[in-house]
Amino acid sequence: MNAPNVRYEADQIVSQYVYQTTTVDAAADGGYVVRPVAAELTLRTATAVPRTGLLLVGLGGNNGSTVVASVLANRLGLTWKTRTGVQRANYFGSLTQAATVRLGRDATGAEVQVPLPSLVPMVDPNDLVLGGWDISRMNLADAMDRAQVLEPDLRRQLAPHMAGMVPWPSVYYPDFIAANQSERADNVLPGTKREHLQRIREDIRRFRAEHGLGSVVVVWTANTERFADVVPGVNDTADALLAAIERGEAEVAPSTIFAVACILEGVPFINGSPQNTFVPGCVELAERHKSFIGGDDFKSGQTKMKSVLVDFLVGAGIKPLSITSYNHLGNNDGRNLSAPSQFRSKEVSKSNVVDDMVASNPLLYAPGEHPDHVVVIKYVPAVGDSKRALDEYYSEIFMGGRSTIAIHNTCEDSLLAAPLILDLAVLAELLSRITYQTPAMDAPAGFHPVLSLLSYLLKAPMVRRGAPVINSLFKQRAALENVLRACVGLPPVNDMALEDRVWPGTLGL
Ligand SMILES: NC(=O)c1ccc[n+]([C@@H]2O[C@H](COP(=O)([O-])OP(=O)(O)OC[C@H]3O[C@@H](n4cnc5c(N)ncnc54)[C@H](O)[C@@H]3O)[C@@H](O)[C@H]2O)c1
Repeated sequence: MNAPNVRYEADQIVSQYVYQTTTVDAAADGGYVVRPVAAELTLRTATAVPRTGLLLVGLGGNNGSTVVASVLANRLGLTWKTRTGVQRANYFGSLTQAATVRLGRDATGAEVQVPLPSLVPMVDPNDLVLGGWDISRMNLADAMDRAQVLEPDLRRQLAPHMAGMVPWPSVYYPDFIAANQSERADNVLPGTKREHLQRIREDIRRFRAEHGLGSVVVVWTANTERFADVVPGVNDTADALLAAIERGEAEVAPSTIFAVACILEGVPFINGSPQNTFVPGCVELAERHKSFIGGDDFKSGQTKMKSVLVDFLVGAGIKPLSITSYNHLGNNDGRNLSAPSQFRSKEVSKSNVVDDMVASNPLLYAPGEHPDHVVVIKYVPAVGDSKRALDEYYSEIFMGGRSTIAIHNTCEDSLLAAPLILDLAVLAELLSRITYQTPAMDAPAGFHPVLSLLSYLLKAPMVRRGAPVINSLFKQRAALENVLRACVGLPPVNDMALEDRVWPGTLGL
């Protein structure tokens, strides 16, 4: 990149950037006064990509074993036979590895698109050092077979590389996941919650030291837990939560133990499941330690479609009256979600995704009015990891007419989730190398610990307290893309393409 307001130094990219937005005030006549406002920023991106470790909680699950297998297959450049021919390892479905961003036009008028890592250096997933925990002791070669996600010829080639990988013992409080999971829990840490926290912290430290890592990211891809009750004095503040762990309070979930361990170790922790791991005390602790957290729940299939379709419908002035979503799946995730309190966590996470889009159009919806929104998940063992999602969008159109859009999506669930897990790790590491500073600030600061820039990859995006949640997929993508452009001194993509809409040559560009 070669913008005039950017300097490439030996170890960092320094961008002098003017962030422009608008503020709105209500006017006396019932209208609005809109003012453009701007903030001058110095954005610094450290360019040395550290050796990075990715630790998965739930390493032996369908997602966990698929992540490891796919990284190894890419690293080794494997090909394998399928019914239809020879397949080569790739990272399709990964925003950072398989998507491009528009730079602009060259002198011939041709569009120039580049992969995201050409803007700022990012860790290559092939270089990630992988590890993690599981309550099941099964080695990863067998876990990959148990998952039944990848083709047999690929599994045969990967097995020797994965047979020696055994997940570390994990924190298991049976009350938080479905009772039907107990039979695989043969790799469980003994001791108290306090000891569990210590042990997870030690695991992270040992992993970092053993592999000489400059950075570690932890992603929860273990079973969906039930919601934890938020109880005053237990998990409502950072101090209460730490004391509750010391006392061994029942309402502290395994995922919260992992989150606290990561926060205290200063490593990013991303929650890929829907439960409320980040109870208020956990968020406060992350803020106190300026340690990154992100969540909740990978946005891989049905919700990703919903965050596009509802945005389109409401943005087009069409009024969704009901959104009805069925899923059935037959993997262990489906088995766990067949228990009511774990299903409830998923239902909540899937339900809020249309709220901001509905609220954005007061011409369609009166205050408080909302489309009916139903989510059903059924466990059907026969279909395995091949999840089926059926959605009906029933909307009011022009002059009282009705429109029904029905979608049927069939896909290997873990092949959708694995690239997202890699993106989350790559982006969390990158975001920890970026700082901003305004003229009024004495020192540079990093992003707020609640990494809402990861929203594109998450179903129920967590945001800083008081900030609005943005569910629209393309807004989430634009936010990320434009922040990375800002880091190299480029203006946000505005899609005006004015040069094509006025008389040729008149803009003098
Ligand atoms: N497309 C997707 O696959 C997708 C999308 C969104 C969210 N998710 C969520 O990701 C999670 C993982 O999905 P999956 O299909 O890999 O499920 P899975 O059941 O195959 O894997 C989960 C693994 O977690 C382990 N586990 C359970 N509790 C643990 C603990 N306390 N510590 C360590 N390990 C533990 C289990 O033994 C299992 O191996 C689920 O919560 C699921 O809802 C998946």
